[in-house]
Amino acid sequence: MIGRLNHVAIAVPDLEAARALYRDTLGAKVSEPVPQPAHGVTVVFVELPNTKIELLHPLGHSSPIAGFLDKNPAGGIHHVCYEVDDIIAARDKLKAAGARVLGDGEPRIGAHDKPVLFLHPKDFYGTLVELEQA
Ligand code: CO
Repeated sequence: MIGRLNHVAIAVPDLEAARALYRDTLGAKVSEPVPQPAHGVTVVFVELPNTKIELLHPLGHSSPIAGFLDKNPAGGIHHVCYEVDDIIAARDKLKAAGARVLGDGEPRIGAHDKPVLFLHPKDFYGTLVELEQA
């Protein structure tokens, strides 16, 4: 059911330092910081040949990343995003298998203007999973 790994999201306490690390030390192609107020984050996109890394930093007062960084002040992997062909079919299959969908269970438009859902980390070995309809 899941397809390509769309991205791995890493919460970082210092976006410019993380951007420089990926650009200069790891030699990756990085974007400028992109504010995404609707999602409470500023994102730097790191393009790799086979997937993307998204460096996330809190933006605004109710950022979903702020609490994560409180618990993980050095930063850490926040979620992985898998592509699916049909997000409603995927959701219904996962719910039938007992997985918990976060929020109201309805897909919302994610950071790439495509429908996304998040799955409870306790159902996926401690990993927050994002599904994106590719
Ligand atoms: Co994501």
